[in-house]
Amino acid sequence: MALLKISNLHAKVNDKEVIKGLNIEINYGEVHTVMGPNGAGKTTLANLIMGNPKYEITAGEILFDGKNIIGMPVNERAQLGIFQSFQYPEEIPGVTVRNFLKLAYDTIHPNEKMSIFDFGDMLIKMSDQLKIDRSFLDRYINVGFSGGERKKSEILQLNILKPKLAVLDETDSGLDIDALKVVAEGINNVIGPDIGILLITHYQRILDYVKPHFVHVFIDGKIVKTGGPEVAKELEIEGYESFVV
Ligand SMILES: Nc1ncnc2c1ncn2[C@@H]1O[C@H](COP(=O)(O)OP(=O)(O)OP(=O)(O)O)[C@@H](O)[C@H]1O
Ligand SMILES: [Mg+2]
Repeated sequence: MALLKISNLHAKVNDKEVIKGLNIEINYGEVHTVMGPNGAGKTTLANLIMGNPKYEITAGEILFDGKNIIGMPVNERAQLGIFQSFQYPEEIPGVTVRNFLKLAYDTIHPNEKMSIFDFGDMLIKMSDQLKIDRSFLDRYINVGFSGGERKKSEILQLNILKPKLAVLDETDSGLDIDALKVVAEGINNVIGPDIGILLITHYQRILDYVKPHFVHVFIDGKIVKTGGPEVAKELEIEGYESFVV
């Protein structure tokens, strides 16, 4: 059974149809990349998978582990193991990275009952690996973080929470060369048989480090072509023009 299966999805925002018959299937162990022009609906797709209530689904199905999740609130989806990293991660004043992650971890993995000390050790190990200064753990989420620091913090969350499905929206944008490698390493860390990954990006360069099994071309609310990594290379050379009808 597919981890995520989206069939003939149509969705509106503010009465404007943004998703127009989208199909995608992601299995455990797979890395899928979605590439497409600005405004095509990629972030909308990410938000629909996570359950952002701003969007109105007018047709289609979203099955997660075989279960229809349309209408399910965001927190329940997170508990099921769906994770979204945001194109523009928001500040959450008053909530430290450490406290947020402990709460989220306990919610997603209720049977593990990890002690606060073991959890702290895990956080430190992962922060060091991602070259995130340990002091960030006790800062409020994203408050005063630079663009790149926000993206690294999202990858820290991904590594700690160990979701079943990770939807990563432009996690590679705005990163310097070293940070890009660190973020790619953070994604590669979690790739494995227990997770499926949907990586939204504009740039082929992240794919020099993270190897996708499938690359989807996303134009005007739907996927118009699917292939292997060679598709990203073609796009880099030819752009989207030949796909726009
Ligand atoms: N809350 C909203 N209110 C109004 N329009 C919206 C809203 N959210 C999305 N849209 C519109 O839906 C379309 C798709 O937006 P979306 O953010 O999904 O694009 P994208 O593919 O992620 O683009 P980018 O590559 O620039 O991030 C755009 O035309 C956008 O203006
Ligand atoms: Mg976007």
